[in-house]
Amino acid sequence: MSDIKRIAILTGGGDCPGLNAVIRAVTKTAICKYGLEVVGIRKGYHGLYHKDFVPLTLDSVQEILSEGGTILKSSNKDNLFIYPIRDENDNIVRDENGKIMYHDVSDVAVQNLKEAGIDALFILGGDGTLTSGRDFSRKGVNVIGIPKTIDNDLAETDYTFGFDTAITVATESFDRIRTTAKSHGRIMVVEIMGRGAGWLTLHGGIAGAADVILIPEIPYDINKVADKIKADFAKGKDFAIVACAEGAKPKDGEAVVLKVREDSPDPIRLGGVSHVVADQLEELCHNEARATVLGHTQRGGVTTGHDRVLSSRYGYAAVELAMQGKFGNIVALHGDKIGYASLEDVIGQKTKNVDPNGELVQMAKALGICFGD
Ligand code: F6P
Repeated sequence: MSDIKRIAILTGGGDCPGLNAVIRAVTKTAICKYGLEVVGIRKGYHGLYHKDFVPLTLDSVQEILSEGGTILKSSNKDNLFIYPIRDENDNIVRDENGKIMYHDVSDVAVQNLKEAGIDALFILGGDGTLTSGRDFSRKGVNVIGIPKTIDNDLAETDYTFGFDTAITVATESFDRIRTTAKSHGRIMVVEIMGRGAGWLTLHGGIAGAADVILIPEIPYDINKVADKIKADFAKGKDFAIVACAEGAKPKDGEAVVLKVREDSPDPIRLGGVSHVVADQLEELCHNEARATVLGHTQRGGVTTGHDRVLSSRYGYAAVELAMQGKFGNIVALHGDKIGYASLEDVIGQKTKNVDPNGELVQMAKALGICFGD
């Protein structure tokens, strides 16, 4: 048994359904089962650097189980190991070529944790946030990672919380868009998040009865997509639903970048491919086509029952890991069993991607779904 008395929780990166449920499970387990003190760090690593600490009590985590977002707030710009230098007026300092200048302020964060008497740091985040988690662990901080992403692309864990909620939002959106597609005889292209992984689009597209699914793992030929839709129209169908991952790319082409966030450690923001695909299909199929970008609706709102349970399991297991002194690990789901994996193994590994020859894709193809390959 470890002798920790005071723990801290931070949420980093994009928000994700289930974060509040994890914060609640960690806090309740820590207080009720082990009598620990719990501290919340606000705005991710920004708060760790600026000592933005608040006490977390049983009262603070009341009525948050179902709520999306994070009561601790989050930031996806604050990598303390590569932190923008700021002048006395808080403006970012640039070199003579206009490039942002960086320095390493991680020792300040380690000192802040020491001064606040924090024995273990629970970090809820995706690959960027957990990379810093690994680096703090290497500096001797007792870190427990809890993997978070709607993209479900993190290595070493089968499913992350938030994924089910995002699929549910996508599925409901397909059901809504379908009625317009049918009423107007349109081709409707629905763009789904997921960065370079097609999990959300594949699951959402299957659940939403899409005719076409385009994912980054299977580069598409737009002519094949158009042929599929024209063949369906020739058989009497007069509308089509295309599930399109934001990271989908044509054969011999690149993903569509919406913007580059220069101040972010993960600067590429994907977006816009559905408009490209819709325009091309309108021309090739001689049929009206429209694009809908689901965007952040997939991350917000109410967390599904499945994700509430999974998040609670992750939060509880994280405290158990800490009490066993197993620091430097993330909580992981292997099959239906909660286990753990080393941060050293998780970081630097390739992201977990859809297998183009895997069972899900084969099943979808057998059901007549076209992947444009
Ligand atoms: O990683 C989660 C995710 O929602 C991706 O699916 C998406 O590409 C990205 O974050 C969007 O990030 P932001 O909220 O910074 O625009």
